[in-house]
Amino acid sequence: MDIFIRQARPAEWDKLVDIYRRENIKSELELVAKHAQKEFPEIGTKRLIWFAEEGSLVIGAIQLVLKSEQVDLANGQTTAMIHHLRIAQDYQTTGIGSLLNKTVEQEARLRGIKTLTLEVEKINHKAREIYKHWGYRYFRAGKDPAEIVMIKSLGNN
Ligand SMILES: CC(C)(COP(=O)(O)OP(=O)(O)OC[C@H]1O[C@@H](n2cnc3c(N)ncnc32)[C@H](O)[C@@H]1OP(=O)(O)O)[C@@H](O)C(=O)NCCC(=O)NCCS
Repeated sequence: MDIFIRQARPAEWDKLVDIYRRENIKSELELVAKHAQKEFPEIGTKRLIWFAEEGSLVIGAIQLVLKSEQVDLANGQTTAMIHHLRIAQDYQTTGIGSLLNKTVEQEARLRGIKTLTLEVEKINHKAREIYKHWGYRYFRAGKDPAEIVMIKSLGNN
């Protein structure tokens, strides 16, 4: 399987929705489309978005949020936030999440970002374990009480 990672463009918000459309998660489709239409125009200013593709098929995505209203999560300078990491179900556990994470960390380092944060649902034990494996630790309760915030220092490595 040849997987290609590239930055998404603002007009491509519907390709993110395709991941959910293929999985037939109808309950989430409308919400994902609404968020994507708000977030994709912010590419380059407030956030960066990457797609993982197999051929022309988008099978995964990740965001690096540069500026957030929650400034302790992303302050436009030294702290940025990982957001909306998702791999299509039939491609999970094959290393694509890891590839996207490495891409984001590399870009963050180039930009002089020292700290990465993320919000994750308390009940998403699998993702929480993976984030711990990537070096994140508990930071604080989330704005949404169903979530927690995790944090990681990029250090010098
Ligand atoms: C969570 C998710 C993004 C992970 O992506 P993935 O492509 O399935 O994961 P990968 O195969 O790349 O594995 C990621 C890393 O975690 C490790 N890992 C996998 N399962 C693990 C577990 N249960 N505990 C600890 N580490 C684990 C892998 O060994 C790999 O390590 P590496 O980066 O050192 O190579 C994916 O499962 C997903 O999209 N889930 C649904 C959406 C979601 O929950 N997103 C997170 C929302 S905050």
